[in-house]
Amino acid sequence: MDDLKNKVAVITGGNSGIGYATAKQLKEQGAEVIITGRRKEAIEKAALELGVTAITADQSQVLEIEKLVSKVKEDFGTVDILFINAGIAGLGNIEQATEALFDSIIDVNFKGAYFTLSRFIPILKEGASVVFLSSNTASMPGPGSSIYSSSKTALNSVMRSAALELAPRKIRVNSVSPGPTETEVMKKVGLNEATVKSIMDVVVAKVPLKQMGASADVAKMVSYLSSDAAVFITGADIIMDGGMVLA
Ligand SMILES: NC(=O)c1ccc[n+]([C@@H]2O[C@H](COP(=O)([O-])OP(=O)(O)OC[C@H]3O[C@@H](n4cnc5c(N)ncnc54)[C@H](OP(=O)(O)O)[C@@H]3O)[C@@H](O)[C@H]2O)c1
Repeated sequence: MDDLKNKVAVITGGNSGIGYATAKQLKEQGAEVIITGRRKEAIEKAALELGVTAITADQSQVLEIEKLVSKVKEDFGTVDILFINAGIAGLGNIEQATEALFDSIIDVNFKGAYFTLSRFIPILKEGASVVFLSSNTASMPGPGSSIYSSSKTALNSVMRSAALELAPRKIRVNSVSPGPTETEVMKKVGLNEATVKSIMDVVVAKVPLKQMGASADVAKMVSYLSSDAAVFITGADIIMDGGMVLA
Protein backbone atom coordinates (compact mmCIF):
# COMPACT_ATOMS: atom_id res chain seq x y z
CA MET A 1 0.00 0.00 0.00
CA ASP A 2 1.90 3.06 -1.20
CA ASP A 3 -0.98 5.37 -2.10
CA LEU A 4 0.51 8.24 -0.08
CA LYS A 5 3.81 8.19 -1.96
CA ASN A 6 5.34 11.67 -2.44
CA LYS A 7 2.94 13.18 0.13
CA VAL A 8 4.46 15.20 2.96
CA ALA A 9 2.69 14.60 6.30
CA VAL A 10 3.18 16.60 9.50
CA ILE A 11 1.92 15.04 12.74
CA THR A 12 2.02 17.07 15.94
CA GLY A 13 2.68 15.01 19.08
CA GLY A 14 4.08 11.95 17.37
CA ASN A 15 6.22 10.35 20.04
CA SER A 16 3.46 8.22 21.56
CA GLY A 17 -0.13 7.03 21.33
CA ILE A 18 -2.33 8.02 18.40
CA GLY A 19 0.28 10.32 16.82
CA TYR A 20 2.90 7.55 16.85
CA ALA A 21 0.45 5.00 15.38
CA THR A 22 -0.54 7.45 12.64
CA ALA A 23 3.08 8.21 11.78
CA LYS A 24 3.63 4.45 11.40
CA GLN A 25 0.52 4.06 9.23
CA LEU A 26 1.28 6.99 6.89
CA LYS A 27 4.93 5.98 6.59
CA GLU A 28 3.85 2.44 5.62
CA GLN A 29 1.68 3.99 2.90
CA GLY A 30 4.68 5.78 1.45
CA ALA A 31 4.34 9.28 2.91
CA GLU A 32 7.29 11.43 3.99
CA VAL A 33 6.43 11.90 7.67
CA ILE A 34 7.51 14.60 10.12
CA ILE A 35 6.60 14.22 13.81
CA THR A 36 6.79 16.85 16.52
CA GLY A 37 6.94 16.76 20.30
CA ARG A 38 8.14 18.74 23.27
CA ARG A 39 10.65 16.22 24.58
CA LYS A 40 13.68 16.09 22.27
CA GLU A 41 14.83 12.66 23.44
CA ALA A 42 11.39 11.03 23.16
CA ILE A 43 10.66 12.49 19.73
CA GLU A 44 14.07 11.52 18.37
CA LYS A 45 13.73 7.97 19.72
CA ALA A 46 10.30 7.61 18.09
CA ALA A 47 11.57 9.04 14.80
CA LEU A 48 14.44 6.57 14.76
CA GLU A 49 12.09 3.63 15.39
CA LEU A 50 9.70 4.76 12.66
CA GLY A 51 12.22 6.00 10.09
CA VAL A 52 10.62 9.47 10.02
CA THR A 53 11.84 13.03 10.68
CA ALA A 54 11.68 14.55 14.18
CA ILE A 55 11.33 18.25 14.90
CA THR A 56 11.21 19.38 18.52
CA ALA A 57 8.44 21.94 19.02
CA ASP A 58 6.08 22.89 21.81
CA GLN A 59 2.72 23.24 20.05
CA SER A 60 1.38 25.52 22.79
CA GLN A 61 3.88 28.27 21.89
CA VAL A 62 3.08 30.32 18.79
CA LEU A 63 6.74 31.22 18.28
CA GLU A 64 7.70 27.54 18.27
CA ILE A 65 4.89 26.76 15.82
CA GLU A 66 6.24 29.48 13.52
CA LYS A 67 9.78 28.05 13.78
CA LEU A 68 8.38 24.59 12.98
CA VAL A 69 6.60 25.90 9.88
CA SER A 70 9.81 27.64 8.69
CA LYS A 71 11.82 24.45 9.15
CA VAL A 72 9.23 22.30 7.31
CA LYS A 73 9.06 24.88 4.50
CA GLU A 74 12.85 24.96 4.21
CA ASP A 75 13.26 21.17 4.19
CA PHE A 76 10.08 19.95 2.46
CA GLY A 77 8.48 22.94 0.69
CA THR A 78 4.78 22.25 1.08
CA VAL A 79 2.56 19.97 3.18
CA ASP A 80 -0.11 17.52 1.90
CA ILE A 81 -1.32 16.11 5.23
CA LEU A 82 -1.48 18.02 8.51
CA PHE A 83 -2.57 15.96 11.51
CA ILE A 84 -3.06 18.25 14.52
CA ASN A 85 -2.94 15.65 17.25
CA ALA A 86 -0.89 16.98 20.19
CA GLY A 87 -3.04 17.22 23.27
CA ILE A 88 -3.18 16.65 26.99
CA ALA A 89 -5.87 15.44 29.37
CA GLY A 90 -6.89 16.94 32.69
CA LEU A 91 -9.68 16.32 35.13
CA GLY A 92 -11.31 18.48 37.78
CA ASN A 93 -14.66 19.99 38.65
CA ILE A 94 -15.59 23.57 37.82
CA GLU A 95 -15.80 24.82 41.41
CA GLN A 96 -12.24 23.78 42.23
CA ALA A 97 -10.73 24.70 38.85
CA THR A 98 -7.35 26.42 38.91
CA GLU A 99 -6.12 28.94 36.37
CA ALA A 100 -3.00 26.79 35.89
CA LEU A 101 -5.00 23.69 34.91
CA PHE A 102 -7.27 25.76 32.64
CA ASP A 103 -4.32 27.40 30.88
CA SER A 104 -2.30 24.21 30.50
CA ILE A 105 -5.12 22.33 28.75
CA ILE A 106 -6.42 25.21 26.64
CA ASP A 107 -2.87 26.26 25.62
CA VAL A 108 -2.15 22.88 24.02
CA ASN A 109 -5.54 21.51 22.99
CA PHE A 110 -7.14 24.70 21.69
CA LYS A 111 -4.72 27.62 21.29
CA GLY A 112 -1.91 25.35 20.12
CA ALA A 113 -4.10 23.48 17.66
CA TYR A 114 -5.61 26.74 16.38
CA PHE A 115 -2.25 28.41 15.69
CA THR A 116 -0.80 25.22 14.26
CA LEU A 117 -3.49 25.33 11.60
CA SER A 118 -3.19 29.10 11.21
CA ARG A 119 0.56 29.14 10.63
CA PHE A 120 0.64 26.06 8.37
CA ILE A 121 -2.05 27.41 6.01
CA PRO A 122 0.41 29.27 3.74
CA ILE A 123 2.40 26.10 3.06
CA LEU A 124 -0.54 23.69 2.66
CA LYS A 125 -0.67 22.36 -0.86
CA GLU A 126 -3.83 22.79 -2.96
CA GLY A 127 -5.95 19.69 -2.19
CA ALA A 128 -4.26 19.10 1.18
CA SER A 129 -5.97 17.35 4.10
CA VAL A 130 -6.09 18.70 7.65
CA VAL A 131 -7.32 16.46 10.47
CA PHE A 132 -7.83 17.61 14.06
CA LEU A 133 -7.72 15.05 16.85
CA SER A 134 -10.79 15.94 18.87
CA SER A 135 -12.67 13.69 21.30
CA ASN A 136 -16.11 12.20 21.77
CA THR A 137 -16.30 14.32 24.94
CA ALA A 138 -16.82 17.32 22.64
CA SER A 139 -20.25 15.81 21.95
CA MET A 140 -20.99 14.37 25.39
CA PRO A 141 -19.43 16.50 28.13
CA GLY A 142 -19.53 14.91 31.56
CA PRO A 143 -18.73 15.95 35.13
CA GLY A 144 -15.04 16.60 35.78
CA SER A 145 -14.09 17.13 32.16
CA SER A 146 -15.37 20.67 31.53
CA ILE A 147 -12.00 22.18 30.52
CA TYR A 148 -10.90 19.23 28.41
CA SER A 149 -14.22 18.73 26.65
CA SER A 150 -14.70 22.43 25.94
CA SER A 151 -11.19 22.56 24.42
CA LYS A 152 -12.28 19.84 21.99
CA THR A 153 -15.71 21.42 21.31
CA ALA A 154 -13.88 24.63 20.41
CA LEU A 155 -11.65 22.63 18.09
CA ASN A 156 -14.66 21.19 16.25
CA SER A 157 -15.97 24.70 15.75
CA VAL A 158 -12.64 25.87 14.29
CA MET A 159 -12.60 22.77 12.08
CA ARG A 160 -15.94 23.75 10.51
CA SER A 161 -14.93 27.39 9.93
CA ALA A 162 -11.61 26.25 8.45
CA ALA A 163 -13.39 23.80 6.11
CA LEU A 164 -15.29 26.76 4.66
CA GLU A 165 -12.31 29.13 4.58
CA LEU A 166 -10.02 26.64 2.86
CA ALA A 167 -12.51 25.07 0.44
CA PRO A 168 -11.55 27.51 -2.38
CA ARG A 169 -8.06 25.91 -2.30
CA LYS A 170 -9.64 22.39 -2.25
CA ILE A 171 -8.14 21.88 1.21
CA ARG A 172 -10.34 19.58 3.31
CA VAL A 173 -10.56 19.95 7.09
CA ASN A 174 -12.09 17.25 9.30
CA SER A 175 -11.82 15.95 12.83
CA VAL A 176 -11.65 12.50 14.38
CA SER A 177 -13.20 12.09 17.82
CA PRO A 178 -12.13 8.92 19.59
CA GLY A 179 -13.67 7.60 22.74
CA PRO A 180 -11.48 5.85 25.32
CA THR A 181 -8.39 4.68 23.47
CA GLU A 182 -5.41 2.82 24.92
CA THR A 183 -2.49 5.27 24.98
CA GLU A 184 -0.13 6.87 27.49
CA VAL A 185 -2.32 9.98 27.97
CA MET A 186 -3.86 9.10 31.36
CA LYS A 187 -0.51 8.12 32.89
CA LYS A 188 0.81 11.58 31.96
CA VAL A 189 -1.90 13.12 34.17
CA GLY A 190 0.03 11.55 37.06
CA LEU A 191 -2.24 8.56 37.73
CA ASN A 192 -0.70 5.19 38.54
CA GLU A 193 -1.39 2.03 36.52
CA ALA A 194 -3.99 0.65 38.97
CA THR A 195 -5.98 3.91 39.05
CA VAL A 196 -5.88 4.19 35.25
CA LYS A 197 -7.18 0.62 35.01
CA SER A 198 -10.04 1.20 37.43
CA ILE A 199 -11.06 4.42 35.60
CA MET A 200 -10.91 2.57 32.29
CA ASP A 201 -13.04 -0.32 33.64
CA VAL A 202 -15.75 2.20 34.57
CA VAL A 203 -15.45 3.91 31.19
CA VAL A 204 -15.56 0.66 29.18
CA ALA A 205 -18.75 -0.32 31.00
CA LYS A 206 -20.34 2.76 29.39
CA VAL A 207 -19.27 1.76 25.85
CA PRO A 208 -21.98 -0.23 24.03
CA LEU A 209 -19.28 -2.28 22.23
CA LYS A 210 -17.62 -2.95 25.64
CA GLN A 211 -14.05 -2.33 24.58
CA MET A 212 -11.37 0.36 24.39
CA GLY A 213 -10.39 1.87 21.07
CA ALA A 214 -7.00 1.18 19.50
CA SER A 215 -4.56 3.86 18.29
CA ALA A 216 -4.04 1.87 15.08
CA ASP A 217 -7.76 2.19 14.21
CA VAL A 218 -7.67 5.97 14.67
CA ALA A 219 -4.55 6.02 12.49
CA LYS A 220 -6.42 4.22 9.70
CA MET A 221 -9.23 6.78 9.87
CA VAL A 222 -6.75 9.67 9.62
CA SER A 223 -5.18 7.92 6.65
CA TYR A 224 -8.60 7.47 5.02
CA LEU A 225 -9.56 11.13 5.56
CA SER A 226 -6.23 12.15 4.03
CA SER A 227 -6.61 9.96 0.97
CA ASP A 228 -8.34 10.50 -2.37
CA ALA A 229 -11.17 8.21 -1.20
CA ALA A 230 -12.32 11.07 1.07
CA VAL A 231 -12.08 13.79 -1.57
CA PHE A 232 -15.71 14.90 -0.96
CA ILE A 233 -15.50 14.88 2.86
CA THR A 234 -14.86 18.19 4.59
CA GLY A 235 -16.20 19.76 7.79
CA ALA A 236 -17.00 16.32 9.23
CA ASP A 237 -16.39 15.05 12.74
CA ILE A 238 -15.94 11.28 12.77
CA ILE A 239 -16.79 9.84 16.18
CA MET A 240 -14.99 6.55 16.94
CA ASP A 241 -16.19 5.51 20.36
CA GLY A 242 -17.97 2.17 20.17
CA GLY A 243 -21.33 3.94 20.39
CA MET A 244 -20.56 5.74 23.67
CA VAL A 245 -22.17 9.07 22.68
CA LEU A 246 -25.42 7.23 21.95
CA ALA A 247 -25.67 5.54 25.32
N1 LIG B 1 -6.44 8.29 24.49
C1 LIG B 1 -7.69 8.64 24.52
O1 LIG B 1 -8.53 7.97 25.15
C2 LIG B 1 -8.15 9.84 23.73
C3 LIG B 1 -9.54 9.98 23.49
C4 LIG B 1 -9.96 11.09 22.76
C5 LIG B 1 -9.05 12.02 22.31
N2 LIG B 1 -7.71 11.88 22.58
C6 LIG B 1 -6.78 12.89 22.05
O2 LIG B 1 -5.82 12.24 21.25
C7 LIG B 1 -4.66 13.08 21.14
C8 LIG B 1 -3.43 12.21 21.33
O3 LIG B 1 -3.44 11.70 22.65
P1 LIG B 1 -2.96 10.22 23.02
O4 LIG B 1 -4.08 9.56 23.70
O5 LIG B 1 -2.30 9.59 21.87
O6 LIG B 1 -1.91 10.59 24.18
P2 LIG B 1 -0.34 10.56 24.30
O7 LIG B 1 0.15 9.17 24.06
O8 LIG B 1 -0.06 11.21 25.58
O9 LIG B 1 0.15 11.46 23.08
C9 LIG B 1 0.06 12.87 23.10
C10 LIG B 1 1.13 13.42 22.23
O10 LIG B 1 1.02 14.85 22.22
C11 LIG B 1 2.28 15.40 22.57
N3 LIG B 1 2.13 16.71 23.19
C12 LIG B 1 1.45 17.04 24.29
N4 LIG B 1 1.59 18.34 24.54
C13 LIG B 1 2.39 18.84 23.56
C14 LIG B 1 2.91 20.12 23.26
N5 LIG B 1 2.64 21.18 24.03
N6 LIG B 1 3.69 20.26 22.18
C15 LIG B 1 4.00 19.19 21.39
N7 LIG B 1 3.55 17.96 21.63
C16 LIG B 1 2.75 17.79 22.70
C17 LIG B 1 2.91 14.37 23.47
O11 LIG B 1 4.29 14.56 23.56
P3 LIG B 1 4.96 14.69 25.04
O12 LIG B 1 4.71 13.39 25.70
O13 LIG B 1 6.40 14.94 24.73
O14 LIG B 1 4.29 15.84 25.70
C18 LIG B 1 2.53 13.10 22.75
O15 LIG B 1 3.38 12.86 21.65
C19 LIG B 1 -4.84 14.19 22.16
O16 LIG B 1 -5.24 15.36 21.49
C20 LIG B 1 -5.97 13.66 23.05
O17 LIG B 1 -6.69 14.71 23.63
C21 LIG B 1 -7.25 10.78 23.26
